[in-house]
Amino acid sequence: MTDQNTLDSTAVPVIEPNRSGRLVIVSNREPYTIQTHGNDIRIERMPGGLVSALDPVLRQRDGLWICWEDTSKKMVEVNDVASDEDSIDWDKIQLPYQIQSVPLTQEEINHYYYGYANTRLWPLFHYFISKCNFFEEQDWPSYVTANQKFADAVVAHTGAEDWIWVQDYHLLLVPELVRKQRPHHKISLFLHIPFPALEVFKILPKRDVILQGMLGSDLIGFHVPDYATYFLDAVERLLPQEDITIDREHQRIYYQGRGIQVGAFPISIDTKKIAALVATPTLQKRAQQLRDNYPVKYLGVSVDRLDYTKGILENLQALQLFFEKYPEYIRKFSFIQIASPTRTAVPAYQRMREEVEQAVGRINGLFSQDNWVPIYYFYRRFSLEDVLTYFMIADVAMITPLRDGMNLVAKEYCAAKIDLSGVLILSELTGAAYELREALMINPFYIEEMADKLHEALTLPMPIRQAKMRALRQTVSDYDIHHWLQSFMDAFTHAVNHR
Ligand code: G6P
Repeated sequence: MTDQNTLDSTAVPVIEPNRSGRLVIVSNREPYTIQTHGNDIRIERMPGGLVSALDPVLRQRDGLWICWEDTSKKMVEVNDVASDEDSIDWDKIQLPYQIQSVPLTQEEINHYYYGYANTRLWPLFHYFISKCNFFEEQDWPSYVTANQKFADAVVAHTGAEDWIWVQDYHLLLVPELVRKQRPHHKISLFLHIPFPALEVFKILPKRDVILQGMLGSDLIGFHVPDYATYFLDAVERLLPQEDITIDREHQRIYYQGRGIQVGAFPISIDTKKIAALVATPTLQKRAQQLRDNYPVKYLGVSVDRLDYTKGILENLQALQLFFEKYPEYIRKFSFIQIASPTRTAVPAYQRMREEVEQAVGRINGLFSQDNWVPIYYFYRRFSLEDVLTYFMIADVAMITPLRDGMNLVAKEYCAAKIDLSGVLILSELTGAAYELREALMINPFYIEEMADKLHEALTLPMPIRQAKMRALRQTVSDYDIHHWLQSFMDAFTHAVNHR
């Protein structure tokens, strides 16, 4: 997701007015960074759907965000202008709600975040077994220690009336670790990545500890029903049968005298905000100017973190095949690949960057002519507005993950196409494919099909294109981020009331 905002307070979602207690978010990532340029300080909201959805609620309800990063001390220097840290008046920096940091040592960060979370859980849950490192002994103890630190922070800073919402695969042990100390706390967990099928999950050493950790929750949310089913399969097959009863029909687990609700809540985007942004004269003008930079009839686009799960290399292979198979598009079609840097300390990400850059070089070397290039490649983070202008000018978006819990870029592309002009090509291995049925679906392991779908997208008659985009836009409008938040909080309340 690409949202990057300064402190605005638009689009406040509605949370039931009679629910008392604070909303407490517990996540690895912080909601804000502080950027300094000389003595000028800017507080920037972090990118991502989670922050843009929950930030307004926390402001409205005096919430609390517990996260790893020490926001009040973190500085990102902008434009390489160094700041005199001592001259900054930290007391003047006002964040909109309380942020509680959980200090971790560098050793813990290496083994908990880069190690267990990102070279074991992340690849395994995305079915990249060969990218898992199961041999680094320090990773597991650090994961436990870091989760314990988060749990201790939750215990220290919350009360029984608060609604504790733990986020993602970094913190799977936190629900149980809090429950042990505070049996009556209201605790939920949301997994932002896929939960894998039993045969894959089974590979994970300590899989039972991970499951027990998650079961400390009152509610466990996944993006799509299949992930919830796989989780129930794992609980049923991998934990001692005498401890567990599962009610499949109502997706409830009975464990240690408590009922735990499981459910699917597909995360989404702030559709109205995006539609409003692309309608502004500023963005309309920027999009027009941007389009003039590309001397071709058709443009394609892809935006994502440079992660091996995203299928960027496969997409590039498909583009090469497309130009070989359909040479009439040489000089007529260019593709814009925006890849944002991520987890750059992990070797698999460094290798992926090299491979992607070699592939872009190879394809451009093979096909470029005069002032035409097939692929424009950007390796940096773009603001939401910048990404939206690319979406506005792109005739087709290719969203090609080899596996993705949801994929919000696909939804953002549809939200940005207010003139119904674009075609969405979407990997069927994303959570988004469960909802965005009118996209042209591809299997990113089938390169020839991808090349053919791109051709189909570029030749699709306008009425069909518009009908598809109208239906896609209806879906992202009906099931937006506010719907996600409201339905999760309703289910959380229900789960707590029916423990
Ligand atoms: C995925 C995860 C998030 C994570 C994001 C960026 O979307 O589900 O939890 O924050 O990637 O990754 P990073 O490692 O930079 O936090």
